[in-house]
Amino acid sequence: MLAAFVSTPSPDDPLSVLEVGERPEPEAPEGWTTVTVKAAALNHHDLFSLRGVGLPAERMPMVLGCDAAGTDADGKEVVVHAVVSSPGWTGDETLDPKRSLLSERYQGTLAERVVVPARNVVPKPAALSFAEAASLPTAWLTAYRMLFVRSGLRPGQTVLVQGASGGVATALVQLGSAAGYRMWVTGRSEEKRTAALALGAEQAFEPGARLPERVDGVMESVGKATWGHSIRSLKPGGVVVTCGATTGFDPSAELNRVFFTQLSVVGSTMGTREELQQLMRMLEVTGVRPQIDVELPLTQAHEGFARMLEGRTAGKIVFSV
Ligand SMILES: NC(=O)c1ccc[n+]([C@@H]2O[C@H](COP(=O)([O-])OP(=O)(O)OC[C@H]3O[C@@H](n4cnc5c(N)ncnc54)[C@H](OP(=O)(O)O)[C@@H]3O)[C@@H](O)[C@H]2O)c1
Repeated sequence: MLAAFVSTPSPDDPLSVLEVGERPEPEAPEGWTTVTVKAAALNHHDLFSLRGVGLPAERMPMVLGCDAAGTDADGKEVVVHAVVSSPGWTGDETLDPKRSLLSERYQGTLAERVVVPARNVVPKPAALSFAEAASLPTAWLTAYRMLFVRSGLRPGQTVLVQGASGGVATALVQLGSAAGYRMWVTGRSEEKRTAALALGAEQAFEPGARLPERVDGVMESVGKATWGHSIRSLKPGGVVVTCGATTGFDPSAELNRVFFTQLSVVGSTMGTREELQQLMRMLEVTGVRPQIDVELPLTQAHEGFARMLEGRTAGKIVFSV
């Protein structure tokens, strides 16, 4: 089958090691099921995989991709939940120390077919296209959990999102504004800031800008480049929720501000199967649909990865399979 995969990662030149070609048909073990992929979305995680982050040599070659929507063996339309918990684990799978995302331990979704545990398949709402549904399991689910599960923030409060055009950033703006939060963003170009306003952001600022007032919460996925600004932008008692560190994991912690102004620093990662279903219901109820930047055939995977690497994003990059 056709797949996008990595055999020999490169920390410095990830695009050069992206392969698009034939991989063996996957076989579903007992309790797993085969999904025929119709659409698969790209995440920054896939760039980290090309760089070799979290992928030891013995797992190579690895088909990339965490997110997919398609059909199951009975032809039913399904969405794939990307978090695979260990056998016997019960409860919140994001707290399972042995969990993995598709494409970390098990082959990923950027392929004609993917095998997943039966519990990782959830029905796709008819109202969502395959491309929209494929955009949800990583970026959108992460945004949902950051804002509605982990932050403790309430509608009417002001939330700054660092980044404007990426998958997690656009999801945060769209979900937060639909739920009645006052969403502010930072974006690296005028074009990105204007696009964020069109998605529902109330105000958009240049990175590092002094804000008109301090905010109740900050949603962080950028890391080193924005962390200091995030901490300085918070009201006393505010909360920063972090899910990623695209630009580096080792910013100055700004501990003086954290304790003096009694800030909370909260980690968040992915979401549960139940939260994925709640997210889909929220989209059905509100009519919100994931902002899709571009849909490309999987054979043009290089173009999609290049856009993300160069920061040429405007929402989700989706591959049709
Ligand atoms: N823990 C989890 O479960 C989880 C889940 C999903 C994602 N993540 C992490 O969250 C991060 C974002 O993922 P994504 O898929 O949304 O990525 P993406 O689509 O490539 O978006 C990258 C975002 O980073 C922003 N950014 C700001 N300053 C930047 C800089 N100097 N260099 C690069 N980017 C900068 C971009 O802002 P502009 O709009 O201004 O370009 C953009 O919004 C990644 O680190 C990813 O690993 C974690």
